[in-house]
Order: sequence, then structure tokens, then C-alpha cells
Amino acid sequence: MSIQDEQELSSLRAVGRVVRMVLDAMKAEVRPGITTQYLDDIGAHVMRENGARSAPSMVYQFPGASCISLNDEAVHGIPGERELKEGDLVKLDVTVEKDGFMADAAITVPVGQVSPQAEKLIACAERAFHKAMLVARAGFRVFEIGKIVEREVRKSGFAVVRELGGHGIGRTIHEAPHVPNYPDPTARQIMNEGLVITVEPIISAGSGRVFTDKDGWTVRTGDHALSAHFEHTLVVTSGAPILLTAI
Ligand code: CO
Repeated sequence: MSIQDEQELSSLRAVGRVVRMVLDAMKAEVRPGITTQYLDDIGAHVMRENGARSAPSMVYQFPGASCISLNDEAVHGIPGERELKEGDLVKLDVTVEKDGFMADAAITVPVGQVSPQAEKLIACAERAFHKAMLVARAGFRVFEIGKIVEREVRKSGFAVVRELGGHGIGRTIHEAPHVPNYPDPTARQIMNEGLVITVEPIISAGSGRVFTDKDGWTVRTGDHALSAHFEHTLVVTSGAPILLTAI
């Protein structure tokens, strides 16, 4: 969506705050031995307490409140009875609806001590996001974001997952424009002030190819390489974007 007035901005800020509270609550519980279902229940509780709902279950009938993906799972992992173990990478991807508005953010959390490569991968996804903030502003074309993201990821020796990227958001989860993580020449739209999008590097320590698991949801790396994800929902302005899911 494109924000038209202060009321819409404050509604989006409110839903963005809930996304952050959910992520913080889930992250605080990450440790070896807990199940991904337990993490999901914590997130669902925070949503309910704040008058919010899980957007993926509303919009896509996703079988969980949040997407929880481990290791080689890039996105859309289904919460369940699997236990986290030392050395895992857990990706928490939270999209929430409140009063008709939606926001989306993701983090990658190490479970206990992880490998140096895993640490490097997490840091790379975050760094690519922050560098992309320089061009996520009014007057730039959407593909400038992907250009920066892919350049940063390649420099670290990793690959972006080209099939997955950011998106417009606000009234539903996935709105126009698509925000690729590489300089896709078709992403030519010029971003205007007020446009609400996600920027979300989804990267792999391998080739970056992915496939959908037989559960119909989980997207995994084809070579079983580790994957990391970092995402915020933001409002495009003529200066630094407003990060709706940062506080
Ligand atoms: Co997203």
C-alpha cells in the first residue's frame, strides 16, 4: 500500500510494534531442547494479547502462527514437535494483522554456539539489509535494492535465493511491487514517498537454489546449505526509510 495519511501511518506503526514484540518474545525463548511448536505458541499468545492475528494463517491458511525454519530451510517452515539443538540456525518470520493492517519481519537466531560460517551468514543477511536502506527511498527504482543486496552477499562468498524476495505490504501480506534480492531488470517501478514494502535478504551458504518440500510449504535449499533471513517492513520516504518493525 501507499500511505495516504497520519492515521494509516499510526495503524501501521501499531501493527509493526506487535511484530517486534512477537519476535522478541520468541527469540528470548530460543535454546536447545525446546520445540518449534513451543516457540510458535509464545508468538501466538503475544499476538492475542495485543489484539492481533497471524496474517499467514488468515490469508494463506498457513498451519501455524509464524513461519519457523531451521538450517537448510529458507522460509515457510511449519512449527511442530521438532526440538532445537545446539548449533542450529532458527529463522523466525512473523507477519501480523491488526485492525486491517499488516506488517512482516524476520530474524535468524543461533541456537547456542553455532559454526563460524553460520555466524558469518547471519551477519551477512543483516549487513545486506542495512546497505540496501541507502536506496530504499523515494525516486529510486525497486531493482536498486536487489543490486545492493546481491553485491553484498556475493562479496561475502554467499548467494541470494533468487526465487524469494521482498514485497509490498499493508492491507494484505503480499502486495505489489515484488522486491527481488538481485538486480531484476523488470523491477523498474520508481518508489514514491509513502510506499510500504519489506526488504528481506534470504541468502544461502550454497548455490541459492531452492525447492518446496513435500509438506507443500517448507522451502529448502537444494544443496542443503544453511540459509539466513533478515527482514523489516518499512515506509519509503525522501530520506531514511521508517522501519515499522524495528521497535
Ligand atoms: Co516478507
